[in-house]
Amino acid sequence: MKIFESSDDLQFFLESYKNNHKKVALVPTMGGLHDGHLKLVEKAQALADVVVVSIFVNPTQFSKGEDFESYPKNFTNDKALLVDRGIDILFIPSKNEIYPNGTLLNYEVGPMGQILCGAFRPFHFNGVAQVVKRLFDIVKPDYSVFGEKDYQQLLIIKSLVKNVDLSVSIESVATQRESDNLAMSTRNQYLSIKNRKKAPLFYKQLSKAKAAIEQGDSIELVKQKALSKLSVDFEVEYLEVLNANNLTQIVTNTAEIIIISAIRLGDTRLIDNIVFRRPNV
Ligand code: PAF
Repeated sequence: MKIFESSDDLQFFLESYKNNHKKVALVPTMGGLHDGHLKLVEKAQALADVVVVSIFVNPTQFSKGEDFESYPKNFTNDKALLVDRGIDILFIPSKNEIYPNGTLLNYEVGPMGQILCGAFRPFHFNGVAQVVKRLFDIVKPDYSVFGEKDYQQLLIIKSLVKNVDLSVSIESVATQRESDNLAMSTRNQYLSIKNRKKAPLFYKQLSKAKAAIEQGDSIELVKQKALSKLSVDFEVEYLEVLNANNLTQIVTNTAEIIIISAIRLGDTRLIDNIVFRRPNV
C-alpha cells in the first residue's frame, strides 16, 4: 500500500492510472476504522481498478465543545486493516494540505444541512461538504463510497455533487451492525460497559416504530410513541419519520420512508435510521 501525505504527489501517482483509463474510487474516512468502513472499502474495490482511502479528522465538521481533540485515532491498526484488505493507496493529508486557503463557515449546503443533525451540530455539514469537495478535487474519483448510517450526510453529498456538477458517482453501503444490532460507529468505543449494554435499545425502538407503520399506525402516533419510549433510556435529540428521498414530510402512501434519530447516552452521541416502504402500496 502506498501512503501519501501530499496531494501533489498523490495526484501525480494517480495520473498514470487515469491516463490508462483505470477507474478510481475514493473512500473518505476519519480513521478509527471498523467493519463498517471495511464494507465501504469492499464496495470501492468491486467498483474500481484502484482504491484510495483517506484518513483525515476534519476539524471543520466538529462544533465547539465536541470530540475533535479526543476523536479515536489508531493509525497503526487502521493501516494494518487496509494492508490486509489489499488497499492500493492511503491518503493522510495534513490540515494545510486540505485547507491551504483556510476554512469557510459559510460553505453552502442548502436547507437539508440545517435540519436533524444540522440543527444540533451547527456548521457540521458545512464542514463535511468542504472536506469532501476538497478530497474530490484532489483525487478526482470516478466513485466515492459512503455509509448509510450517516444518511443525511449521504444525501447532502449527493446534492453537492449535483449542484456543482461533479462527475463522481456517489455509492452507498447499508449500515453494518454489531451482533446485538447496534450500528457500528467509531464513537461506540466511548460507551461505558453499562451504556454499551443499553445502546441496542436504540435500534430496537426504531424497529418497533417501523413495524407499527407497516401495520398501518399513523406516522404521528408512531413518532410520539417512539419518542416517549426512547426518552426512558436516552436523551433524545430528535426522532423523525420522513420521506427518505429528500428528508421532507411524507405526503404520499408510496413514499420511501426513513425513521431517523439521534440520541445521547452518557457523553456519547449515537445516530441511526431505518429506510423502508409500506407493504402493499
Ligand atoms: O463520515 C465520515 O467519516 C466523515 O464525515 C467524512 C465523510 C469522512 C468527512 O470527514
